[in-house]
Formats: sequence, C-alpha cells, structure tokens
Amino acid sequence: MENKRVVIANMKMNMTFSEIEEYLKIINNEIRSPQVIFCPTAIYTSYFLKQKYRVGLQNVFIYDKGAYTGEVSSYQAASMGIQYVIIGHSERRIHFKETDSLINKKVHEAVKHKLGVILCIGETIEERNLLKTDRVLKRQILNCLNEIEPEMLDNIVIAYEPIWSIGTGLVPTNREIQTTVDYIKLLVKEYRNYDDIKVIYGGSVDDKNIKTLNSIDNIFGFLVGSASLNIDKFRKIIAEVIK
Ligand code: PGA
Repeated sequence: MENKRVVIANMKMNMTFSEIEEYLKIINNEIRSPQVIFCPTAIYTSYFLKQKYRVGLQNVFIYDKGAYTGEVSSYQAASMGIQYVIIGHSERRIHFKETDSLINKKVHEAVKHKLGVILCIGETIEERNLLKTDRVLKRQILNCLNEIEPEMLDNIVIAYEPIWSIGTGLVPTNREIQTTVDYIKLLVKEYRNYDDIKVIYGGSVDDKNIKTLNSIDNIFGFLVGSASLNIDKFRKIIAEVIK
C-alpha cells in the first residue's frame, strides 16, 4: 500500500459495458494516481488495467485453482496485474453468508499472492444500539486476522464500515470514527503485535461530507461505494483527499 491516503472505489455490481467505456473515457488520465484504486465488477477489471489504473477485486476464493465454478482466485488476479482485493464486505457476509473463518482463509490466500487486502469490518445498527460495537469489531479482527503474522499486515488495510452507514446517507461523527479507528489500531497491536495498522473509513462517503471526514487524522483513506459511480462526485472526493 502507498503511504499516502487512498481512495478506493467499490463499484459493486453496477454499470453495463458501455457505461464502463464511457466512464473510462471521461476519467481518462485524470484520476490516474497510485492513491486511487478501482474495484469494478470483476468482468471489467481488464479495461481498467489496460488504462494503467490500480485495480482491485471485490472478492476472491480460498484456493488457487480447480473445479469451483464461478469463482475467481487471488492466484489468477495476481497473474493479470490486479494488486488489491476487498475481503469480508458486509454485503458478502449478509447475502452470501460469509463467516469470519471463511474470510480469514481468503485473507491468507490473498496475502500469499501478495495482493493488498482491504478487510472490511463493521457493526449493525442493532449491535450499535446495544453498545456492542467494540465487542463485534474485536471478534471480527481476532477471527479474520487469525494466524496473520505481523509482516503480512504491511499488505493489509482495515476498512471500518458501519453496516448502518452503507448506502444510507448516515455517517458517524468524526469523533466516533476517530475513537473507533484508535480502538481497531489498539486491537491489532495487542493481538497481532503490529503497530499502527492502516484503517480506512467506508459508508456513505460523498462529495458533500468528504471535507469533514478527511479532517480525521488517524485514518488512511476512504472506501467509496455509490459516489464512485458518479464521476463528478468521485472527482471531488479525490481532489479533497489527494492534495
Ligand atoms: P456506500 O458504500 O459508499 O454506497 O455507502 C460503501 C461500501 O459499501 O463500501
């Protein structure tokens, strides 16, 4: 990972091929920075790679190759120049029943192939209301980073994404994010013996709140969902973060 703040576009399962062509035409050259990473739907990654953008997948499988119809491996991703992968996104946990232990296997496999891992963690609104956020984050970190050695953590960024904030327009206060990020850093130091893990924030980041969010001093950047699909909004976010 770069040492400067990053902006990661989680484009999810959006856009047709012609929309992707149009998107690439408009952003042509303009947003090409090592601090900006595009994670389009897997079938479109090669078009971003061709234009020399940094590219990540939104998911990977736990093995290198074999009879696993529909899956994509870290081994394959690395072989084509993909450098990053989002693992453990809440949408995968919810819709595809991904568990912490499956996510841990994916992290090991991605690290083995030297992919930069964006590991997503975060609490539901119910957990937050019951004041269980710290407990949930601790469980996710301990399980998802099980047997991950300190040197492997150089290649891992943790994305703190409160589930109630994703796609809702609701965002925690800066102070809440700052406190939670400090807590995540503390957990990783205590349990994985690694100092100052990079933590990014995700959940309803847009062109309107980016200035405020970017003033948080212990975060390493942002994971941006729907606002990354709108080029004007995404440009504004990048301009604010990458100065
Ligand atoms: P959002 O999504 O920016 O649309 O809230 C963020 C994410 O799911 O990573």
